[in-house]
Amino acid sequence: MEKEYTRLLLPAHLLLLLFHPAAADTVPVVARSPGCSTKCGNIDVPYPFGLDPQCAIHSGFELNCTTVNGATKLFHDDLEVIKISVKDGKSWVKTWISRQCYHRANDTITYNNAWINVSTYVLSADDNKVVILGCDSLAYMLSDSYIIGCLSTCDDKTQRPKNGSCSGAGCCQANLPRGVSYYQGFFNSFYNNSEPRLSSTSCNYVTVMETKAFNFRSTYLTTSEFWDADGSRTPVVMEWGISRNTCQEAKVDKETPYACVSSNSDCVTNDFGYLCNCSSGYKGNPYVVGGCTGGSVGLVVLVIAITCAYLIRERRKLHRIKKKYYRQHGGMLLFQEMKSQQGIAFKIFSEEELQRATNMFDEKNVIGHGGHGKVYKGVLKNDVQVAVKRCMTIDEQQKKEFGKEMLILSQVNHKNIVKLLGCCLEVEVPMLVYEFIPNGTLFQLFHGDHGQHISLSTRLRIAYESAEALAYLHSCASPPILHGDVKSSNILLDGDYTAKVSDFGASILAPTDMSQFVTYVQGTCGYLDPEYMQTWQLTDKSDVYSFGVVILELFTRKKAFNLDGPEHEKSLTLVFLSAMKNNRLMDILDEQIKNDENTELLEEIAELARQCLEMSGINRPSMKEVADKLDRLRKVMQHPWTPENSEELYSLLGDSSVSSTGVVTTENFTIAKNAAMGLELGR
Ligand SMILES: *[C@@H]1O[C@H](CO)[C@@H](O)[C@H](O)[C@H]1NC(C)=O
Ligand SMILES: *[C@@H]1O[C@H](CO)[C@@H](O)[C@H](O)[C@H]1NC(C)=O
Ligand SMILES: *[C@@H]1O[C@H](CO)[C@@H](O)[C@H](O)[C@H]1NC(C)=O
Ligand SMILES: *[C@@H]1O[C@H](CO)[C@@H](O)[C@H](O)[C@H]1NC(C)=O
Ligand SMILES: *[C@@H]1O[C@H](CO)[C@@H](O)[C@H](O)[C@H]1NC(C)=O
Ligand SMILES: *[C@@H]1O[C@H](CO)[C@@H](O)[C@H](O)[C@H]1NC(C)=O
Ligand SMILES: *[C@@H]1O[C@H](CO)[C@@H](O)[C@H](O)[C@H]1NC(C)=O
Ligand SMILES: *[C@@H]1O[C@H](CO)[C@@H](O)[C@H](O)[C@H]1NC(C)=O
Repeated sequence: MEKEYTRLLLPAHLLLLLFHPAAADTVPVVARSPGCSTKCGNIDVPYPFGLDPQCAIHSGFELNCTTVNGATKLFHDDLEVIKISVKDGKSWVKTWISRQCYHRANDTITYNNAWINVSTYVLSADDNKVVILGCDSLAYMLSDSYIIGCLSTCDDKTQRPKNGSCSGAGCCQANLPRGVSYYQGFFNSFYNNSEPRLSSTSCNYVTVMETKAFNFRSTYLTTSEFWDADGSRTPVVMEWGISRNTCQEAKVDKETPYACVSSNSDCVTNDFGYLCNCSSGYKGNPYVVGGCTGGSVGLVVLVIAITCAYLIRERRKLHRIKKKYYRQHGGMLLFQEMKSQQGIAFKIFSEEELQRATNMFDEKNVIGHGGHGKVYKGVLKNDVQVAVKRCMTIDEQQKKEFGKEMLILSQVNHKNIVKLLGCCLEVEVPMLVYEFIPNGTLFQLFHGDHGQHISLSTRLRIAYESAEALAYLHSCASPPILHGDVKSSNILLDGDYTAKVSDFGASILAPTDMSQFVTYVQGTCGYLDPEYMQTWQLTDKSDVYSFGVVILELFTRKKAFNLDGPEHEKSLTLVFLSAMKNNRLMDILDEQIKNDENTELLEEIAELARQCLEMSGINRPSMKEVADKLDRLRKVMQHPWTPENSEELYSLLGDSSVSSTGVVTTENFTIAKNAAMGLELGR
């Protein structure tokens, strides 16, 4: 097959090459009617676009040809259009760059913020990238439901910017999601809060632009070359379509006429909607009657081209099949590995078995909505109670998370981590089967409506056990496992309040590639590590931060994030840090645990929480240190009057290496349309 393909393709290529230039020249730029102009300066304006209302297919395709400073330019609303391709269904337009500059002379930062919002286009995900330039620059694009960004750093030794290379050193790129028609550029002040590194012009840039048109120069970081090259604009490729309908919808739509009117034309569905293309072997404009013609490419070439297309399709099909088998095969290997690591404890359940256990996934059996799926209570044939986690919708991201959770949980075995008993692989989305933990979550215990008394020693034990479990994940497993979504509703409790850490949907096995990322923020409001928000790097210290919030919950009995509270009381962390600063710790602690004897102990716990909540990850203790400290405090509490213990308590109190508390501040600024304004912000 492979040989045949190459042999046939070669002559076809040669022939196509021979005929191609002539063929291209014979395709005229077609307008709707003779009165319609098809040129603006030297830019072709083919139908369905038009320069007058009666010349465009509909108002979304009306362009404007105007003379600006003596040069003739084509505009689509306020976007300058530089090229239109009917064959590809794409337009090339210019967009504005967003910029953040530090001025050493007057110690200010100025911003030029660009945004784009187009209704007749989507940004081509294949042709463009988000490009970010700068040193210690964290910039991102906010778009419909995505945040897209990457981190660009410079370091004289390891991260020296190189001409032509955009992979994290002074320059980084991220892929665009499909179907985006709106975005805004943002900067996260200066990522490294200290003074920007470069002295002359310290600017960071973020823009979306045609990948092909970008070539990184190290001088972009030291001069205003990038900004000045094209009047602070970059070219971007847009996909257009006749309407938002798919081909199937367009063909039956009675309200708007179907646009592919030429014979020998096909309908193509793209990220925008639908558009038309001349059938293989034909060229021209599919939007006008008789627009697609055989051109000068002879019949022989046509036949060969068709044969080639067929062969290429066959080859792709074969490739797809191979890939599928490979995946299945790889999946089996992975699964066998899991089985061997977990021994026989890991069971494969049949779909039928789980249906029976959960009474056909009866809504009455739903006990929780973890991560991305529902969790059902079930009873197996041998009367063993289980929890069955099942995805609600099937999407690739969630499938991956399920797989990840399966792999991670199969590797751990700890008494404070919820046990994975097995899974069901028969269904399209795997279901996971866990041991059943009867007494709900820590969140329910503390914020449920029972107002149950929970003693200080129980709280300390829950804290200690959860910390142990997380420390185990961080240090005992290889590669280290980061939980990624530590919160009170992910800590389950069994009959005697033994803590069991659960929900590994957000976990990762090992640190990901530093230079490039596309992140869809995971984690929960109120628990999210501010440093993770800045660097997009999930670290073990992110879990420590979230755990610090859990400690606060345990000893204040307040929710981590209180949506209904006044602005300054929404975040438990901020309430706590401000109470600590003003020596009002006792005001926010839970009444149930306060008494005259345990003040020092409570202060010690609060200090531990404060250390976990340090702004900068390196200043936070490790999970192991947290667990050890909680263990010591627990022992102190159990035997408070023995001399060794009071000594230990004093030594504990002595070693609080306090550093000043950082507070997150958010700066507000208005976004200037098309970067027309620079806004100044004092630092
Ligand atoms: C075309 O551009 C000119 C000058 O910018 C403007 O006055 C006019 O309103 C525009 N027409 C349309 C249809 O956008
Ligand atoms: C239209 O067809 C040509 C080849 O005939 C192909 O190169 C092009 O990508 C197609 N356009 C679209 C939008 O699918
Ligand atoms: C600071 O300096 C920059 C560049 O010299 C200038 O554009 C900006 O207006 C100045 N800002 C203030 C507040 O003086
Ligand atoms: C984008 O423009 C459309 C109308 O053209 C508007 O409805 C929408 O709210 C705008 N989106 C944003 C985020 O501004
Ligand atoms: C990159 O190219 C520019 C010229 O375009 C040159 O001035 C600069 O020194 C080069 N930088 C590096 C790191 O080679
Ligand atoms: C921030 O920059 C300073 C000085 O340039 C450097 O010493 C420090 O290590 C940087 N911090 C981080 C977190 O990169
Ligand atoms: C835990 O749950 C079991 C079964 O639902 C119940 O009998 C027991 O009282 C609960 N224990 C606590 C401490 O709430
Ligand atoms: C910006 O923040 C200041 C105080 O920090 C506030 O007074 C002002 O109303 C805010 N402006 C906007 C537009 O939110």
